[in-house]
Amino acid sequence: MSQAPKHFSRHTLTAALPYANGPVHIGHLAGVYIPADIYARYLRIQGKDVVLICGSDEHGVPVTLRARKEGLTVQEVVDKYHSLIKQSFQDFGISFDIYHRTSDPLHHETSSAMFRDLYDKGELTEQTSLQFYDQSAEQFLADRYIQGTCPSCGFENAYGDQCENCGTTLSPDELINPRSMLSGAVPIKKETKHWYLPLNQWEDRLRQYILEGHKDDWKPNVLGQCRSWIDQGLQPRAVTRDLDWGVKVPLPDTDGKVLYVWFDAPIGYISATKAWAAETGKNWEDYWKREDTQLIHFIGKDNIVFHCIIFPTMLMASGDYIWADQVPANEFLNLEGNKISTSRNWAVWLHEYLQDFPGKQDVLRYVLAANMPETKDNDFTWRDFQARNNNELVAILGNFVNRVVTLTHKYYGGKVPAPGTLTDLDLALVADLATYPTKISTALNQYRFREALAHYIDLARTGNKYLAETEPWKLWKTEPERVTTILNLGLQIVANLALLGEVFLPNAAAAMFRMVPTADIPSLLRWNNAGSALLVEPGTVLGEGHLLFEKIEDDVIEAQVAKLEATKAANNAAAKAPEAAKPAITFDQFGAMDIRVATITEAVLVPKTKKLLKLTLRTGLDTRTVVSGIAEHFKPEDIIGQQVCLLANLAPRELKGITSEGMILMAEDSDGKLVFVRPSQTVWDGATVK
Ligand code: MF3
Ligand code: ZN
Repeated sequence: MSQAPKHFSRHTLTAALPYANGPVHIGHLAGVYIPADIYARYLRIQGKDVVLICGSDEHGVPVTLRARKEGLTVQEVVDKYHSLIKQSFQDFGISFDIYHRTSDPLHHETSSAMFRDLYDKGELTEQTSLQFYDQSAEQFLADRYIQGTCPSCGFENAYGDQCENCGTTLSPDELINPRSMLSGAVPIKKETKHWYLPLNQWEDRLRQYILEGHKDDWKPNVLGQCRSWIDQGLQPRAVTRDLDWGVKVPLPDTDGKVLYVWFDAPIGYISATKAWAAETGKNWEDYWKREDTQLIHFIGKDNIVFHCIIFPTMLMASGDYIWADQVPANEFLNLEGNKISTSRNWAVWLHEYLQDFPGKQDVLRYVLAANMPETKDNDFTWRDFQARNNNELVAILGNFVNRVVTLTHKYYGGKVPAPGTLTDLDLALVADLATYPTKISTALNQYRFREALAHYIDLARTGNKYLAETEPWKLWKTEPERVTTILNLGLQIVANLALLGEVFLPNAAAAMFRMVPTADIPSLLRWNNAGSALLVEPGTVLGEGHLLFEKIEDDVIEAQVAKLEATKAANNAAAKAPEAAKPAITFDQFGAMDIRVATITEAVLVPKTKKLLKLTLRTGLDTRTVVSGIAEHFKPEDIIGQQVCLLANLAPRELKGITSEGMILMAEDSDGKLVFVRPSQTVWDGATVK
């Protein structure tokens, strides 16, 4: 990630097509749509030729399963979610040039033509194989129609194409204990014919393209996944499915077969470009077939293999397409410490946010960009959302802008004063101001959005510091000629915050421009004017001053947290049939158990095991060792210092040569993850549980 940017004449930006099986949530936004939008805006204000493409992914098993769950037809489901998603993106202000959909006839045409083209060129192989089949439902079980245990992490509800717990891409045959999603039955195997993309034949080309060609400019997480796929040996990949929903296989006698969703969906980018070009009088091929066009895919980490290996192979096999130059894939965003999940309703849904926080689009943009999971998974919490709004947007950015504008209204009737002679402090400020565009560009050119945003907010911080140091409200009486300079420079900073803010906080930027109108900056190459202390001309009349952001109070945040708690409770109730009740015991039998509170003081993995942690516990009575089978659920460093409940008089037993003196009380959550059972407040070690 260190190369100077190559020169391109045009940029095709794609944002992963969301499945039309549910609304968009903050995980999608932070991983894909916010970075794509920031980057597109950033290129546009440099006067570049950019198209930002997106649309709904309306095929594949996820939408058909959703239809079953909601008791709707598949068409009804995709119509419902397509319009919901499209509307919420628009209300949120993601600046797609087009938001298309894969059920559009243009897409069916484009994707069938691609299949036909590869077929005619002999780039697809035909193979008959045994596939899982549900006899009672009389249906083949593609992808998510089959569930089982993940061979990588042991998660019991992994799908036939992917484990949602650990992100591993799977094939149905890899699942342990496969079962049908339609009936729960154990499926049989039945013969069927499919077409395959022989990825194995492209291995050398892919190595060259990715592992050589992009070794210095792709993110390590992306290269790492590609390398591991290629090194494991690429296999032919089926590009058709036995399903009745999707793009029909354009060959004779293939009734009941459609293109695999991951074959047709990325072609959706091309279909969408065609639709956009038709509307705008452009030539779509310029955006897909010219070497001087840069293709960038914005995606989440679970999409890497499809965008870096499979789709490029399709494009290579077809011939004259360009391949992705950048794939700045992000990791995942969690919500309050748990994985976001559409099916478990564990999410902050964009359309609900827009209802609950009207006019606060920029707050969510800011918080998600600041927490973007660029290099590792990250967590969204409502407390952090509140803190960033109150301590950064309100206290730093909004406060600075408001002070400068209000003082100018107060002292100069809202007319921008001309600066006097600049002092050393002023000159230092002007020089510092000039460094921000480069700092922000450097970060954005490397897809480091968090860093770019941090520089941006630093500029507002610098402005506040300048006001605090110069105290124009004091000088107004004693040295009024200084105040003209200070406020002029303050207004120049506001204008820069507006200009640079167009990429991160478009609504706040527009509001800043209304308050502090700049000389008509030629809209071409606006970015080139950033960093200048001459953006606002003396004599310009300012607009009304107002607060850009307002404080978010505790009760608002508590309501959101309560909503999540309710989801959790509902999930827990629905998750598992409770175990059967056990026979009655006497009070004395209960009293015979010595359960007490203890603190974990050390935790280490028992060598040569995966599951066992050796814990040292301070029990109040003594310090003792307990071996506990929880290593897959906790990292040792995370649990040191935590209080737990210990069954202290369980007869000691030997585990892997270690004497374990007691047992820690645990419960299982709805995903089968273990959690500690412990007092609701810290108590003294040795307190008995009764
Ligand atoms: N619908 C897919 C997902 O949500 C993404 C499709 S991206 C495309 O994971 F390239 F296939 F369009
Ligand atoms: Zn897994």
